[in-house]
Formats: sequence, C-alpha cells, structure tokens
Amino acid sequence: MSLLDDLWSGRWVPIWLRRRVIAWLGYRVLLDAPLPGGSLRVLERGTVRRLRFGDAWEDQSAFDRAAPTHPLLPYTQLAALGLALPPRLDGVLHLGLGGGTLARMVHVAAPDTLQHAVERYAEVADAARRYFDLPDSVSITIGDAAGLLDRLAPAYDLVFLDAFAPSGAPVSQSAATFVGVRRVLRPDGWLIVNATDDVRTTVLALHDVFASVAWIKIPDADQYLLVASDALALDGVRARAAALGARLGQELEPLVDRLVWADGSVLAGPGGTGG
Ligand SMILES: C[S@@+](CC[C@H](N)C(=O)[O-])C[C@H]1O[C@@H](n2cnc3c(N)ncnc32)[C@H](O)[C@@H]1O
Repeated sequence: MSLLDDLWSGRWVPIWLRRRVIAWLGYRVLLDAPLPGGSLRVLERGTVRRLRFGDAWEDQSAFDRAAPTHPLLPYTQLAALGLALPPRLDGVLHLGLGGGTLARMVHVAAPDTLQHAVERYAEVADAARRYFDLPDSVSITIGDAAGLLDRLAPAYDLVFLDAFAPSGAPVSQSAATFVGVRRVLRPDGWLIVNATDDVRTTVLALHDVFASVAWIKIPDADQYLLVASDALALDGVRARAAALGARLGQELEPLVDRLVWADGSVLAGPGGTGG
C-alpha cells in the first residue's frame, strides 16, 4: 500500500478524531463490544447500520433497514452474480458472516436454500441476529473458517469466502483453504472470494486448485470479486441471472459479461459464459 493509499484511507487519523468525525456525521453507537485484541461496533445513522471493527473506517457490513434487500457495499452488489453461477442453490456456505448481507440476499432470492456460516467471533454472530436482520434459518458455527472446513459435508453449491481480521487483513485466502473449499463444493459448485490484498497471488492459488477462475474489479476500489469452479460449462447462467435479479430488484445479467477469465481457465474464450 502506498503512502497516498494510506492517506486516502484515513489510517493516519487519530482515534479521538475518528470518533469526533463519526459523531459529527450523526452516527449513533448501538453496540461497542470488546473482542480479543479490539472491539466490535455497530453504528447507525438514519436507517443505515454499519458493522465495524474498532475505529476502522471500513465497514465489515452495511445494511439499510429501509431497503433490507438492497446490498449497500459495492462488492456485495456484484457478489449477487454468484447466486446465478451454480445450476442449483440447495446449499450455501459463508466463511465469515459479518452482518450477514450475503446470507440475507440469498434468503430473499432463494428462501428454501439451506445456509450455514462459519464466523470467528460469537459477538459478530449475535450482532448479525440483533441488528442486521439475519434470517433465523441461517445456522452458524463459531470458529476459524479454514480450521472447520474438514468437518463440513460436501454439500454446497456456493461458498462465499469473505473473512477479514480486525486488522483488515484478509483471512484464509491460500491454496490450502481453497483445497478444503473444493472438497465441500458440489462438482459444479462455485467459490466467490472478496479479495483486497495481493490479488494476483490469490488468483494464481485459485488456479492451482480450480479449473476455471475469473474476476470482476470493484469500481473505484482496490478490491476484486474472484470466482472459481471446476464447472465445465455455464449453461443457463444468463437466464438464472435474469430471474434472480428480478427477485432482488437488481440487474444481474449484464454482470456475466464483466467476468474476466484467467488465462487457461476452462471457461475462458468465446462462448465460455454460455446462454
Ligand atoms: C467482511 S465481513 C463479512 C461480511 C459478510 N460477507 C456480509 O455479507 O455482510 C468479514 C467477517 O469475517 C470474520 N472472520 C475473520 N476471521 C475469520 C476466521 N478465521 N474464520 C471465520 N470468520 C472470520 C470477521 O469476524 C467478519 O465478521
């Protein structure tokens, strides 16, 4: 990260000033709970709630109570495309729960889908239920996502890897974790990764494990949504994207054309993204 990135991200701003700015912007603190080595905060302004670690500027999750089905953070809007990638959505696994934006989105688009989440902190899971309308049907295991993978059944059509430490560092974006995810995915299932750091290395690691890897750059951010699978075809993805998008009130079909396939991906090349 360059000095300019540092200045722009506001990392240099002292904590007392951050707190003043947040109060000045009109945020109320709904929760300030201790976590090992930090704290968990839920902030509210108007109808919008934000889940943050300590005094970080970055949101772990954001939720508008006036529009609960509309994901606020840009990467979660793009991640909705993930729901259209597998041919069915019987089981979805979340590695890192946060406020459960993605789980709520799956619940709206496909209410019968079985959803499970692995979340490091019990305090986060409680906050998701209490402040972020996490559907009761989402089951949660508290623990380390990578460490618990080998206890899960190979029953998932979609896995979201969206785990970040309170320091902001991405968690478990390694080939070892990807091997574990591949085991719990059905053969035509998909992994979606929220990637912010050293994305090239993460893409290469995904490519070591999966036959097809693609990405979408998140506009105006140093952030990518990575998708990976052993699927050999994407038949029907556009029709599924149109149908799911209609349920979510979001245009998903155009996102299919924004996927950039990594060199050597089975699905790369003309016609790869199917009809
Ligand atoms: C960006 S948030 C997830 C946001 C979420 N996908 C949503 O839809 O709102 C990242 C989450 O990963 C969790 N986390 C961090 N390390 C983890 C680990 N080793 N295992 C599981 N979860 C972890 C954090 O506590 C945090 O709740």
